[in-house]
Amino acid sequence: MAEKRILCVGLVCLDVISVVDRYPPEDSDTRCLSQRWQRGGNASNTCTVLALLGAPAAFMGSLAPGHAADFILSDFQRRSVDVAHLVWQSRGETPCACCLVNCRNGSRTVTLYDTNLPDVSAADFEQVNLSQYKWIHWEGRNASEQVKMLQRVEKHNRTCPASERVATSVEVEKPRPELYQLFPHGDVVFVSKDVARALGFCSAPEAVKGLYGRLKPGASLVCAWAEAGADAMGPDGLLVHSDAFAPETVVDTLGAGDTFNAAVILALSRGKPLQAALTDGCRVAGRKCGVQGYDGIV
Ligand code: ADP
Ligand code: FRU
Repeated sequence: MAEKRILCVGLVCLDVISVVDRYPPEDSDTRCLSQRWQRGGNASNTCTVLALLGAPAAFMGSLAPGHAADFILSDFQRRSVDVAHLVWQSRGETPCACCLVNCRNGSRTVTLYDTNLPDVSAADFEQVNLSQYKWIHWEGRNASEQVKMLQRVEKHNRTCPASERVATSVEVEKPRPELYQLFPHGDVVFVSKDVARALGFCSAPEAVKGLYGRLKPGASLVCAWAEAGADAMGPDGLLVHSDAFAPETVVDTLGAGDTFNAAVILALSRGKPLQAALTDGCRVAGRKCGVQGYDGIV
């Protein structure tokens, strides 16, 4: 039987990326080293990396018809990401981001226009045939709707045989209190260093220990922290850690977190222990930081 798919629900946008060799002063007029369009958005990037790692990946998110959507669709196809659950919106624009990547240190500065396209709703998610998926990952966005989607999966899992259950994960990346209602839902919760800092923690181990109590029983909490690697805790209460894997030169950290999430999800979905999954996440994310974009990470 074919391996069941991993579905990622969240943002897809058009990233217009300029690679510079130093961050430009305000109101200056400079040249960049190169420029490219890239399909972006956390959930969409996670799908890219899952597909590159050889996993059957599917994306669910919103698009508005137009040039940006045409580019995005053909790029999903190029990466073999299934888009059967794209939701076409009749109002709003496909989000677009202006991204400056400093190739000397890999820093990425993003300004995203992401205001007026409706996110996928719990009603849209009702159309998803859960039996096609072994894992569904949500990038925290319209959290109260996403809680309803998670509750649908929780209900499905209570009523089906163990072999048909769908594992869930959520990413709480932006320090927006509305998103914190997602903590008690996923089987795996990814919390970012920005959220951890906003909640008063200064390191990944502190954040994992301090926030674990917000999760549902049996869940795992994962926190990545750039060059410091990542820490996690599962239901056994043991703290696990992986160092980062520094590439020879850090040239592009745009999407490092999305890459990390993809590698962790894939490892856990294939039955690896939390420690091994964390190490896979850091290894693949480290490789991503050493290349522009995603080609060359496997
Ligand atoms: P985000 O892209 O969300 O800011 P992080 O900065 O927390 O994500 O990074 C996610 C993972 O990517 C880290 O756990 C680490 O493994 C890897 N990573 C990020 N920056 C670097 C770096 N400069 N060198 C090596 N690995 C890195
Ligand atoms: C990277 C990314 C970019 C996008 C931005 C949205 O994590 O998803 O692709 O422009 O973040 O916040």
